Parts: sequence; C-alpha cells; structure tokens
Amino acid sequence: MDIFAHRGARAYAPENTLCAFQKAYAMRADGIELDVQLTKDGVPVICHDHSVNRTSNGQGWIKDYTLAEIKQLDFGSWFHSDFRGETIPTLEEFLRWFASTGMRLNIEIKNGPVIYTGIESKVIEAVKKYDLVEQVFISSFFHPSLLMTKQLCPRIKTGALFTCRPLDPLEFCRQSQADYLHPAWESIDSLWASEAKHHGIKIHTFTVNHLDQYDFVKSMEVDAIFTDYPDIWPK
Ligand code: G3P
Ligand code: MG
Repeated sequence: MDIFAHRGARAYAPENTLCAFQKAYAMRADGIELDVQLTKDGVPVICHDHSVNRTSNGQGWIKDYTLAEIKQLDFGSWFHSDFRGETIPTLEEFLRWFASTGMRLNIEIKNGPVIYTGIESKVIEAVKKYDLVEQVFISSFFHPSLLMTKQLCPRIKTGALFTCRPLDPLEFCRQSQADYLHPAWESIDSLWASEAKHHGIKIHTFTVNHLDQYDFVKSMEVDAIFTDYPDIWPK
C-alpha cells in the first residue's frame, strides 16, 4: 500500500507549499497529492480552496488574482510563524523540483464551482514538459475534466474522486474513462472493492489520518492512501 502525502505533509507544514512537499520527500512518502487551479492570467497554481482566505494573508478568489498579485501573498504564516513568506507554488515551479525526486504524483484538478476552462491542457502540457507522464496521474471530483484529460493525452492515468458511494462504482469508473477509483475511505465496502480488484481497477483512498483506520484500508486491499501524516504508517 503506497503512502501519498495529502497536499504535501500537511500535518507538519502549510498545505500545498513547496516546504510541505519537501517534507513529504524527507519522510520518504511514495507520492504527493496536490490541487491545481488557474490564476486570472491562466497560470496553474497549487492551492486547495478556490479562495485564498483560509491559507494566506489575502482575501478573494484565486481566479481574480494575476500570478504577480497572488505571489505577493504569504501562504505560510497562517500555519505557523516559522513559515512566514512561503508563497503559492506554480505547478511549473513544483514540477521543476519534483522531477528529480523519483516519487509519484497525483495532480487533482479543482474544477467547480469555479470552472477553469482549459485547465486540463495546461496541466498536461506542464507534465509533458518535465517528461513525467508515467509518474503522474490526474484526478478530479469534476468528471468531465477526466474525460477531457483522456482526450488530450490517452496514456496518462486518471482517477475518479467521490465522497458518497455511487450505485455502481465500476460503472461510474467506466463512464468517466478513469483508470482508478479515488473514494473517501468511508465509502469503501468489500463488495465493490473486491470487484474493482477483480477488474484490475486500483483504489486510492482519502483522507486516512489515524492508525486505527489502517486495518480497515489494508483489509480492503487499497493500493494507496492519501494522508496528512506520511510518517506514521507501518512499513
Ligand atoms: O485527492 C484526494 C483528496 O485530496 C480529495 O479531497 O478536498 O482534500 O482535495 P480534497
Ligand atoms: Mg486534493
């Protein structure tokens, strides 16, 4: 079972910043998960919320900031004063560092309720530029983005995110042309999990943060967990 650092090692550093990603690498996580959105001038940047309110000293929507403007904000102090001055990373800045780590990467496209037209092609372009198509898989709760991703780059792997259990998870996977299922761990049950296994569909589940959830996810034979604590899991 692979360990993916959710928004970086989010328990130990401000989420979705370069220091959170470097911490995940130092903790020997197998992979990193991050969230991508677009600035007003169309640059892919890494942030979970659509607004900057919770994780910076600014206010407002990412879509209303140019890159130059959003780079002025402090994305570290909200977490701890030790991280003062940490800026929002562009996807490109991140990939430049990531490319030599040997880790795997899940890029989650945040599309909806703010819709970023063309985000899929920008993400794929960046992944190709750093020759990372084999190490990267793309996920989204917004499943049209998965279809678009496959259209643009059939060989890149995709994962369909969901929180509530669909009636038929495998059909849900087929309809979004996804390679993997990315359920909230609470939505997994052995009926569909074993069927997914049988059909060679990997399960990557979020967000698993407590050791007492370990036996459950192990018993469901999930392939990877997303966790804020990449360092606490039995090897
Ligand atoms: O990709 C797993 C997880 O990140 C999905 O939820 O809201 O943390 O992006 P969220
Ligand atoms: Mg995410």
